[in-house]
Amino acid sequence: MATERTFSIIKPDATARNLTGKIAAKLEDAGLRIVASKRVHWNEAQAKKFYEVHAERPFYNDLVSFMTSGPIVLQVLEGENAIAKNREVMGATNPEEAAAGTIRKEFAENIERNSVHGSDSAENAQIEIDLNFTADEIVG
Ligand code: CMP
Repeated sequence: MATERTFSIIKPDATARNLTGKIAAKLEDAGLRIVASKRVHWNEAQAKKFYEVHAERPFYNDLVSFMTSGPIVLQVLEGENAIAKNREVMGATNPEEAAAGTIRKEFAENIERNSVHGSDSAENAQIEIDLNFTADEIVG
């Protein structure tokens, strides 16, 4: 198995409820190392750019409003099979379909306010990391 990096966001619904530490602990308990982390508050242009692949989806405008509604925590996670492992720990996008013990099952409010984002492929992980971090902000 290869060591990989993936990109993670702790979303505004989670920071509002003071869940940053609990979510980070679940990631670390799964063997993922947080090799970069910063708390930011995106403006509309940043949220639109990040989610531009969803621009034609009916939930796009609501998603942009939600992601700019409060602080978020951007992270780079490193570990064996990090992309798949992070998705496993997060659980399904819709918390009603998420497995027991996953972040979304325990913390998400609904399909939009679903507490975390994680890259869905190695290609997207690289794009999302490059969009949000400079090389010197990632310390393994
Ligand atoms: P995320 O994994 O960040 O990718 C896109 C986001 O859009 C998703 O998590 C949710 O926060 C949000 N979203 C809202 N409605 C939907 C939907 N019907 N299907 C998928 N994602 C949705």
